[in-house]
Amino acid sequence: MKKIYVAPSILSADFSNLYLDIKDLKEQGASYLHFDVMDGHFVNNISFGSYVLSSISKKIELIKDIHLMISNPKKYYLDFVKAGADIITFHYEALNNDEEIFNLIKEIKNSRAMVGISIKPGTEVNKIIPFLNDIDLVLVMSVEPGFGGQKFMPSSLNKIEFLKKEREKNNYHYKIEVDGGINSETAPLVKKSGADILVSGSYIFKSENRKNAINLLKGE
Ligand code: DX5
Ligand code: ZN
Repeated sequence: MKKIYVAPSILSADFSNLYLDIKDLKEQGASYLHFDVMDGHFVNNISFGSYVLSSISKKIELIKDIHLMISNPKKYYLDFVKAGADIITFHYEALNNDEEIFNLIKEIKNSRAMVGISIKPGTEVNKIIPFLNDIDLVLVMSVEPGFGGQKFMPSSLNKIEFLKKEREKNNYHYKIEVDGGINSETAPLVKKSGADILVSGSYIFKSENRKNAINLLKGE
C-alpha cells in the first residue's frame, strides 16, 4: 500500500512550551512539521514568522513544510529558507499572473528549498495545470485558510483525485498534501482520493495519545 505521511500543524501547539510540545512528534510517527505563516492580510489572522522557525528548526528532525498564507511570498520566502525551511509553499491566489508564478517557482528552486503551490477552496484546480511539471508539492486547502479547527470541506476531494490522475498521466513527481479539518473520519476520504501528506493541527495536538492519533490518520 502507498505510504501516507503526516504533517502536524504547529498552529495548534502550545506556544508557551513550543519545543517541548513538538520534540517527540517524529517518534510519534510524523514525517513533516507544517508551519502556518499568516500575515493578517492574505488571511484574517497573524501567526508567526521565520524567527520562530529558526529557533526550532535545528532541534527538530522533521521535514520543515512552510505554508505561506501571505500576500508577498516573493519578498519573504528566502527568510524561511535561511531559517531552515525544506519546502516553501505559496498560494496561487497571492500572485497576479502565471509569469509571476513561474518566476517565483524558479527562484525558490534556486534557493535550497523544494517548492509547492496551494489553492484555496474557491480556486479551481485547473488554474494550476501549467505549473504541475515544475513543482514538488500541491497543497489542497480543505478549509478556508486562516484558522485551525474548522470543518473539512468535501469539495477538496475532486481536486485531489484530479491531481492524482494528472500525475499518473504525465509522470509528474509532485506530492499531494491536504490541509484543514483532517481527523480519523476525514483521513480515509482524502487518502482514497489520492492524498500523500495529511496536515493535521487540532486533531493531533488535542488528542491524549498522539502516536495513536498519527497512526489512525495513516491507517496503520
Ligand atoms: C489553516 C491552516 C492549517 C490548520 C489546520 O489555515 O493552514 O494548517 O492549522 O488545522 P486543523 O487540522 O485544526 O484544521
Ligand atoms: Zn497549513
